[in-house]
Amino acid sequence: MEKQYNVGVIGATGMVGQRFLTLLCNHPWFNVKVVAASPRSAGKKYADAVGTKWCMDTDIPENVKDMIVMDATGDVEKIAGMVDFVFCAVDMKKDEIKALEEQYAKAECPVVSNNSAHRHTPDVPMVVPELNADHIHIIPAQRKRLGTKRGFVAVKSNCSLQSYVPALFPLSKFGVKDVLVCTYQAISGAGKTFETWPEMVDNVIPFIGGEEEKSEQEPLKIWGKIEGDVIQPASSPNFTAQCLRVPVSNGHMGAVFVRFENKPSKEEILEVWKNFKGKAQELDLPSAPKQFLNYFVEDNMPQTKLNRMLEGGMAISIGRLREDTQYDYKFVCLSHNTLRGAAGGAVLLAELLCAEGYMD
Ligand SMILES: NC(=O)c1ccc[n+]([C@@H]2O[C@H](COP(=O)([O-])OP(=O)(O)OC[C@H]3O[C@@H](n4cnc5c(N)ncnc54)[C@H](OP(=O)(O)O)[C@@H]3O)[C@@H](O)[C@H]2O)c1
Repeated sequence: MEKQYNVGVIGATGMVGQRFLTLLCNHPWFNVKVVAASPRSAGKKYADAVGTKWCMDTDIPENVKDMIVMDATGDVEKIAGMVDFVFCAVDMKKDEIKALEEQYAKAECPVVSNNSAHRHTPDVPMVVPELNADHIHIIPAQRKRLGTKRGFVAVKSNCSLQSYVPALFPLSKFGVKDVLVCTYQAISGAGKTFETWPEMVDNVIPFIGGEEEKSEQEPLKIWGKIEGDVIQPASSPNFTAQCLRVPVSNGHMGAVFVRFENKPSKEEILEVWKNFKGKAQELDLPSAPKQFLNYFVEDNMPQTKLNRMLEGGMAISIGRLREDTQYDYKFVCLSHNTLRGAAGGAVLLAELLCAEGYMD
């Protein structure tokens, strides 16, 4: 039998937290032992605490329905003693999240986080398991700084970039130089549904706070290298981004323009995408898509509604690769923002950390 891990979900009543619980209820390695949220929810049965906020397509999983919600901030030591590691997705101030995640790590409980608070902490790996899995080997340096034996924080990157960075990173051998991207982002990325955000019906909002900065800066950490005790971000490619909120429930689309140092042919790009396999595929991790990058030849594909659930929402859909008048090429790409872009990406990262021995 495969090794089993007891896990906690911090922020379990939130939208990403709910995704975690639905992904984890039948997971072959992970068993949910703790659900935790704010003091407002603590002490209640999970089903009562989440109440009408439950917004997944499936019912609340049986294994957590009657679990008593713990206090994510007040019960840190207790929770750390009950689980092998926690997933974290909370809506708090950045400084508070940073402190909370380090508190869990210092209580020798590794944290796999969806939050942005630690994404630029130099010894915290920010990992897309297919692309920069090697960054997890910064963890010994982080443990040294925190004074821990097993505790650490690892994060996933922002959901917006998980459509275009997977398509571009494997093309690094051609020297990805300049990238212009416009993202068309679903309302679930703001933790919302059409019921809770009726203003989004028949509407586009051309601003998502902080999103363009994240979309431009976070890719550079993914392209970065471990140097001594830190991950040194790369200085290129140059990214410029505009991020729009569109009336879509789930799925972030990106429209990308790219210039290379050494312009490849269209066939070479398609060949790289078709054959690309990352560490997640090599290790055959339970949540890894078999085919990470999927190119659609039809002019009107990929479409958000049709393709976001490809391989359980963990695969990337790409289409419309063609030459551009100003850049070398342009194309579109799509990923599911709360699966690949949030909870699913974090579960895959946790699987990678387990497979590489960091959760032992
Ligand atoms: N939605 C997405 O697609 C997405 C994608 C990537 C990353 N993220 C990030 O993931 C995090 C959560 O997002 P979300 O959309 O799931 O938010 P959300 O639906 O608003 O849920 C927030 C969660 O945080 C808990 N919380 C709030 N204040 C707290 C406190 N003082 N102490 C402990 N827990 C507290 C809430 O508990 P109560 O129910 O008890 O209030 C709830 O469980 C955010 O940092 C967000 O930026 C979201």
